[in-house]
Amino acid sequence: MCGIVGYTGPREAYPIIIKGLKRLEYRGYDSTGVALQSSTGLKVYKKKGKVAELEESIVGKDLHANVGIGHTRWATHGEPSDRNAHPHQSASGKLAMIHNGIIENYTQLKKELVSKGYEFSSDTDTEVLLNFIEEIKKNNECSLEEAVRVALKRVTGAYVILLLDEDNPDTIIAARKGSPLVIGVGKGEHFLGSDASPMLEYTKEVVYVNDYELAIIKPDELILKNLGNEKITPYVQKLDLELAAIEKGGYEHFMLKEIFEQPQTIFDCLRGRLDAEAGTITMSGIQQYADQIINANRIVMVACGTSWHAGLIAEYIFEELCRINVEVEYASEFRYRNPVINKGDVIIAISQSGETADTLVAIDNAKEKGAIILGVVNVVGSSIARTSHGGAYTHAGPEIGVASTKAFTAQLAVLTMIALKVGYMKGTISQERYMHLLKELNEIPEKVAWTLKQSDAVKAIAEKYKDARDFLYLGRGYNFPVALEGALKLKEISYIHAEGYPAAEMKHGPIALVDKDLPVVFVATKDTYHEKVVSNMQEIKARKGMVISVITEGDEVSTELSNDVMIVPEADEILAPMLSVIPLQLLSYYIGVAKGCDVDKPRNLAKSVTVE
Ligand code: F6R
Repeated sequence: MCGIVGYTGPREAYPIIIKGLKRLEYRGYDSTGVALQSSTGLKVYKKKGKVAELEESIVGKDLHANVGIGHTRWATHGEPSDRNAHPHQSASGKLAMIHNGIIENYTQLKKELVSKGYEFSSDTDTEVLLNFIEEIKKNNECSLEEAVRVALKRVTGAYVILLLDEDNPDTIIAARKGSPLVIGVGKGEHFLGSDASPMLEYTKEVVYVNDYELAIIKPDELILKNLGNEKITPYVQKLDLELAAIEKGGYEHFMLKEIFEQPQTIFDCLRGRLDAEAGTITMSGIQQYADQIINANRIVMVACGTSWHAGLIAEYIFEELCRINVEVEYASEFRYRNPVINKGDVIIAISQSGETADTLVAIDNAKEKGAIILGVVNVVGSSIARTSHGGAYTHAGPEIGVASTKAFTAQLAVLTMIALKVGYMKGTISQERYMHLLKELNEIPEKVAWTLKQSDAVKAIAEKYKDARDFLYLGRGYNFPVALEGALKLKEISYIHAEGYPAAEMKHGPIALVDKDLPVVFVATKDTYHEKVVSNMQEIKARKGMVISVITEGDEVSTELSNDVMIVPEADEILAPMLSVIPLQLLSYYIGVAKGCDVDKPRNLAKSVTVE
């Protein structure tokens, strides 16, 4: 949540910062602001709304500077408004700061400052922390760096902060705990970002700042210290990311591009790991912990949102193929519930961003109690990836549309490979079934491509139902979590109320909602439960509900019962969710577009949820 950008060096800072903020808008878009430092002093421009709105509002202003910071906000403390937009300035006007995270004890700090006569011009925790830093600097007559260190020892919560000081015009002070910070190292210049996207065209050398580290950044110097003032040698890594990966590439929206990328992203995820002919799955980050997984009493999948849905599907797959007890937990509940974790429990953290605060804290807690932590993460070098003992990257490339699509299918591909590998090693899956599933998994990218060719039919269905007030999504077995995912996608993209439910459970309550105006989406591909799902369709039809079904090619019975169908190719039921989710992603996309919604940046949402 919230995107931060910074630059210090010989170039004009403003264009770098604005371009960087546009790339980070997926992290929040309630307000935008920049602080620029030049020989004429510190200039701050900020505005409620998206980056483009700020840009328009400051045409003709003095934007010349070689040092600057910028922020795109997802509001926590204080409504989205000009006055709550970052950067904030300290009481003296000499310091400017941007912040991503939450200062939990800000009320107490604010009280202390108010008693000393401070007044505040915003409702944010950020302005409180900034003035707290300035107060320490003034009282202790110390450097800004020292004041930041002292202040952060008093702070509880999560933060990445970037500060500019009028008295040290070429320097940016940065610190992190719990929110991401990447520093790009150029020749005589440094770049900062919540992720590496703002610096891609300038440098491939990056440093991922760790929790409780503070950085003093000048054009030709990067000093990293811990909060105890000891120097740390920055670990410079090579970035494996190209500019094209973060551009729309001719598509109208990132979401559509990412949906259509799935044949390639699933292929990339399998490549170098799955050899269907040799019957091998190579995953070194899993292999290392294979014994612990095989002997685990249980596996706990910890995740949020769409990643949690991937965990639910994986629960079915692991229990089927590995005969290990699996629990799937919302990270936000798991972290606070004092769960029973025994040494030897295996926790699988699933996360696209690798920065979701609840998931990160949940695995930190479990790690302390002796669990093995495996990460199934998309963003390389992210906090969850670094906290995990082992795991596997999903290699789906940057996912910029706020609604998760390609990350979900890549998570399913990775989790399926882990289950197959473990099941085979454990002997809970026969050689024949193992070889069959490997072959089928290898064919999934092609089948996804086939499914995407049906997009015009899905678009026509979207047009037909776009004005419905509610939707019900139903599925059984492996397709039950797909129904949940379909409903979540529709809610977030089109703001239509949607419920996902197990198809049979529907009789115990939600069936009361069914009337002639309610579209009911059945995820009804051919599997063990298919006949039962068909009976559930009959029950909806009998109550005049409108049935839209995701079906396997050639399923005449379901076609007959449905008002509209979305077709996927035949696949083993374990792998079917990677196909059946595709029409549901398309359906929500096309409904969202037809309703004029901003599908890449749905209201109130942000992609990387770094607050709890
Ligand atoms: C839904 C969506 C969210 C995320 C959730 C977890 O489309 O994107 O529900 O899945 O915020 O995020 P990650 O996977 O980054 O931990």
